[in-house]
Amino acid sequence: MFKPTATFRNETAGLDLFEEIKRLKEEKNAIILAHYYQDSDIQDIADYIGDSLGLSQQAASTNADMIVFAGVHFMAETAKILSPSKKVVIPDLRAGCSLADSCPPDQFKAFCDQHPDHTVISYINCTAAIKAITDIVCTSSNAVQIVQSLPADEKIIFAPDKNLGRYVMQKTGREMVLWDGACMVHEIFSREKIIKLKERYPSALVIAHPECETPVLELANFIGSTTALLKFSKNNPATTFIVATESGILYQMVKDSPEKTFIPAPPENNCACNDCPHMKLNTLEKIYLCMKNEEPSIDVEEAIRIPAERSIRRMLDISAKLGL
Ligand code: 13P
Ligand code: SF4
Repeated sequence: MFKPTATFRNETAGLDLFEEIKRLKEEKNAIILAHYYQDSDIQDIADYIGDSLGLSQQAASTNADMIVFAGVHFMAETAKILSPSKKVVIPDLRAGCSLADSCPPDQFKAFCDQHPDHTVISYINCTAAIKAITDIVCTSSNAVQIVQSLPADEKIIFAPDKNLGRYVMQKTGREMVLWDGACMVHEIFSREKIIKLKERYPSALVIAHPECETPVLELANFIGSTTALLKFSKNNPATTFIVATESGILYQMVKDSPEKTFIPAPPENNCACNDCPHMKLNTLEKIYLCMKNEEPSIDVEEAIRIPAERSIRRMLDISAKLGL
């Protein structure tokens, strides 16, 4: 039985949280959506675990009355934008995202106004207000294809992740105007330490998320979203992988391929910086409490939700046409 920590001891003392969450799921016709960066016990209780694209597709199509979003704020907000009539709850309202924070809406609006003839593509890791002034949203699963779906001479602003933007420019051969944002977790990996690890494990493959900086991506044998990294590690015959993304994904990698070795790519210093501090705010106790209390819940005002939904649906439509 899961043992509650001090924070919520009074409300959850003596409860079997796995059983209680299962009971609330039925009682409230709820679905638990979890990102791969969540702790293993949350991944185990989830109805669906996935990357940002998969999670938004699930949020758009579910018949549940309540969506419990075990992820960060922009993900729960995306679910609410796509399913406004449903109750969307998040275990901890403080679970933000350094990348989304790196793009304040007023500054971004001014930036877009400086490039009026540009189509705006925004990575899903941004606020609803940014999505509302975006033409097409993308995720790390489909960013390359979304850019390629536009005519070759179309001028593009890409925001907020400059690392993903640079990667997409390199893959497509297209110039884009990049917003100067980044993820605190994916910028922490050390190229020098990865090179040393490669010397120690010469047959290991480096697999990396495109939010990593170019010097790290240059070392990668494979680059992709969390779902793509998971599939690659499962299907590739190699037995050792150095994994340059948030550490939560290793749980599913080991589950899928218990005979293989997964080494988290080392950060610059000796911290646990490849744990996303925002994702890791969520706990089983908080999941139980947000289901029971039906809060914190997410609301998005219609003036923002409607244009934000348009830019997300454009992404979902292009992805569906391409079979992504
Ligand atoms: P994906 O879910 O697209 O792999 O992106 C990872 C991420 O940083 C989510 O915050
Ligand atoms: Fe944001 Fe980075 Fe955490 Fe993903 S890993 S939620 S991009 S801070």
